[in-house]
Amino acid sequence: MNDKEKENYTEANRLSWNEAMSRHQKANGAKWDNAFSTPGFVALPLREQELLKSIGVSGKKIAHLCCNNGIELMSLKNMGADRCVGFDISDEAIKEACDRSAKAEIPCEFERTDVYKISKDHHGVFDIVYISIGCFGWMPDLKQFFEKVELLLNEEGTLFIHELHPFAEMLPSDDNEAADPLKIIEPYFKAEPYQDNSGIDYVGKTTYESRIQYWFVWTLSDIIMGIIENDMVIVHFREYAEDISALHEKNQAAGIKIPLSYTMISRKKGYNKTTQTDAGKPRD
Ligand SMILES: C[S@@+](CC[C@H](N)C(=O)[O-])C[C@H]1O[C@@H](n2cnc3c(N)ncnc32)[C@H](O)[C@@H]1O
Repeated sequence: MNDKEKENYTEANRLSWNEAMSRHQKANGAKWDNAFSTPGFVALPLREQELLKSIGVSGKKIAHLCCNNGIELMSLKNMGADRCVGFDISDEAIKEACDRSAKAEIPCEFERTDVYKISKDHHGVFDIVYISIGCFGWMPDLKQFFEKVELLLNEEGTLFIHELHPFAEMLPSDDNEAADPLKIIEPYFKAEPYQDNSGIDYVGKTTYESRIQYWFVWTLSDIIMGIIENDMVIVHFREYAEDISALHEKNQAAGIKIPLSYTMISRKKGYNKTTQTDAGKPRD
């Protein structure tokens, strides 16, 4: 795929996300505004909070790629992070994030940009690059994505990922009402993106005739090799039978323990190993 094609996919996705954000806000905007009016509120799942504490969030400079409406980054700030910068392609998501952080007086920075085009001014700045729930699938080029992650991290930086498991991509999502939730209906290896025009309202659970959005499928080996080939070492990887996407709740409810999400922590090779207690429990 050439650069122009990648840009075209991302531009289509930007417009789709702009279209979706008012629906997300209608469903949950007031809830988040209210939640963040409580000092120290953290919207992250417990297991994520524990892992983040083991990395040490306090005083860290954090970049959130695909930050959407900012609630995860604001949570990281409330956990004691120093500078927090969120990057997202959607104008509407960034606007919501800026408004909410200003209203709640939780100082985070938000930039509307394509991940691939994040300014060089941010290179080598961050202690942690944070990625969660539904980021990789929007990326037309995962190799280039990890190249950018490596550039954003400082010499001893850490990459934190909490994502949808690639296995779940083979199963029907909840909006496919006719399908058996445990029957594999999609390939694991897929070069071309899925195209869909039924909207992206997994928050309010409405469907609408939307602009076409493009979703890319990446395998575990794409993810692992993207990290390995970019000067990072994986120090933690764990899979879970819980859905974190709100798209595979039926797969979870079916009661068969299948991998629906995972966490992964990677370190830049320059990370000072002498201060670590063990691979999974990095220094604070
Ligand atoms: C499902 S959200 C994930 C965010 C967050 N974890 C959440 O659950 O709200 C995906 C976000 O990725 C953003 N996005 C998609 N492609 C992007 C790109 N190339 N660069 C930056 N952001 C992008 C979208 O605008 C959207 O806000």
